[in-house]
Formats: sequence, C-alpha cells, structure tokens
Amino acid sequence: MGIYVWGTGCGASALIDKGLSLERIAGFVDTYRAGGSFLEKRIIPPEELKKAPVELLLVTSRASEEIGAQCELLGIPPQRILFLKNAAAVIDRNQRCTAAESVLGRELLNRLLPRQHLVTEPASLSDSALREEAVQDDYIRLAALELLCRRLGSVPGAAAELGVYRGRFARCINRLLPDRTLHLFDSFQGFRPEEKAPAALQEAHLGTSAEEVRSILPHPEAVRLHPGFFPDSAGGIQERFCLVSLDVDFEDSTLAGLEWFWPRMNPGGYLLLHDWGNPRLPGPAQALAAFEKAWGQSLPGVPLPDLGGTLVLCRQG
Ligand SMILES: C[S@@+](CC[C@H](N)C(=O)[O-])C[C@H]1O[C@@H](n2cnc3c(N)ncnc32)[C@H](O)[C@@H]1O
Repeated sequence: MGIYVWGTGCGASALIDKGLSLERIAGFVDTYRAGGSFLEKRIIPPEELKKAPVELLLVTSRASEEIGAQCELLGIPPQRILFLKNAAAVIDRNQRCTAAESVLGRELLNRLLPRQHLVTEPASLSDSALREEAVQDDYIRLAALELLCRRLGSVPGAAAELGVYRGRFARCINRLLPDRTLHLFDSFQGFRPEEKAPAALQEAHLGTSAEEVRSILPHPEAVRLHPGFFPDSAGGIQERFCLVSLDVDFEDSTLAGLEWFWPRMNPGGYLLLHDWGNPRLPGPAQALAAFEKAWGQSLPGVPLPDLGGTLVLCRQG
C-alpha cells in the first residue's frame, strides 16, 4: 500500500516542502509525462492505478472534476482520494475522503489541505473563458487582473510577464489585452542556480518550453517570447509598459525585474508583484525593500488577498 501523487508540477513539489517525505510516495501519476521520472520516482499513467495498491491518492492538479471522473472509472474509492487544489465545488470533494487522516496524521493533513474552502461562481468576471480559468485557479488574482486591464484605458505601452512557467497567467493577460504586445520572459529551465531553489521546486519548473506556452495563447501574434535568464534576455528591447506581472519567486531575479521594468513603466500603469505577501517566499518583499531604498522612496501600491499576496504597484507620473 502506498501514497500516490497525481501531478508532477509545483503542487507536487510543494507537498515535499510542506513535510510529506519522498520515501512515503510510491509513485507519481501524469498522463503527459508517463514513463519518465519525477524526483527520482517513476511516473505512471492513470491506468496503472487500477492495479496499484493505492492507500491514498493526493491530487495536485487543478482538474479535479476530470480526475475525479477518471478515478471513478479506474475504481479508486473516493475515500482514498484527497484533492489538494480546487477541492470545493458545490460540495467539498474531500468530504468523502476518510483515509487521509489515519494515513497522514491530523497535523500533516492540516498543512497539506488547500486553503480555499469556498468557491462561488465568479460572476463579476465578464469574460467567460477567464471565468472558467478563475474557477480552476486563483479567483481574486484573476478578477483583479481583469479590473486592472479595464482601468488601463488609454495608458500606452506593452504588457509583459517575467516568470511565465506554463503560461497560465500569461494566457489571461493575452486574452484581456489582445491589442497590446505581450513580452514573455522565462528561462524555461527554472531558477538561477545562485538562487538555490529547493530541488523539488526547481524540478517542478523544468518540463515547459516557449513553444508549449505559445500553443496555449489565444492571440499568439501579439506575443514576443524571450527565453533565457533575465535580465540578459531583455537585451536590445526598446519598449515601454502599461502592465507587468513579476513572478520569479526569489530575491535577485525579482530585484532585476524591478530595476529593469519600473523605469520603463508609463504613468497610469501597474506592476503586479506576485508573492509579495507570501510567507513561504520572502524574496519578492525583500527585493522590493532593496529597490525602494535605492530608488529613494516607497512605491505606491495596493496589496491583494489572493493566494500569493500580490502587491499591485501603481506607476504615477
Ligand atoms: C512561479 S513560476 C511563474 C508562474 C506564472 N507566472 C503563472 O502564474 O503561471 C516562476 C518562473 O520564473 C522563472 N524564472 C525565475 N527566475 C528567472 C530569471 N532570472 N529569468 C528568467 N526566468 C526566471 C522560472 O523558470 C519559473 O518558470
């Protein structure tokens, strides 16, 4: 009997960070990466769960509805499935999971459980595709993005994201600002070695590419992809910006982002500093403090109660 983890992304690596020891994991499940390995464990396709002795299945993917249905077909009882993202629908999908507490213990279970307990239809989002995205992801982050994009009005400039990963947030920016050029910066090989990202976090950020990101964008013709480590990847770009998402988790890269983007922001524009209020990632807040010291004044900003504690920095004249 063993614990299986469905998903090989950030959600899966976060389990290790939160204290689930790798030795307790019998294997990872991932349709797209089956046959490979994650954290030196085998990645199996969902069908293999049929004959696996599943003690507990931890689902780290956001596609809980689809995976729930697949598990039903595979004969995995709901008592053995714990959804760690997007658990709440009209009912909490985890209500029926009776195995989790005895397998993990109450203390570890409390640390692993998702923080969202209530999902309501996000009616204030006017874009129906974004509404679908929000139910799967971070409603407050995406609803704020939509309102900020609406507020931009005639502020000139391009949009950008530094730290794109698989492009889910970039896809929302691209959808909301189809007429703006969107510059996307990512190493597509994880974090700078000097930033000493935990091994599981680094590995979770590997399996992606510029082509994969481009393939999910609704308006790819407006997008310029800049693979490579920032700020070297920004060499030669002559642009000013109205909206920037800065999401690179660690201090040095965040500081490089602030130094490069802030002087290039047009008045009326917004810079979204993700994870500023995230106690698990102190780097972004440290980078902002260092930047404000060098800049000589604090930057006006509004914190959001989204999952990362984003700070929306507002560029004035
Ligand atoms: C948390 S993920 C971004 C998530 C994405 N913004 C989203 O919401 O879906 C952080 C990304 O930053 C990238 N990254 C970190 N430091 C970087 C640097 N100095 N240059 C380029 N990319 C970097 C990593 O490769 C990783 O994909």
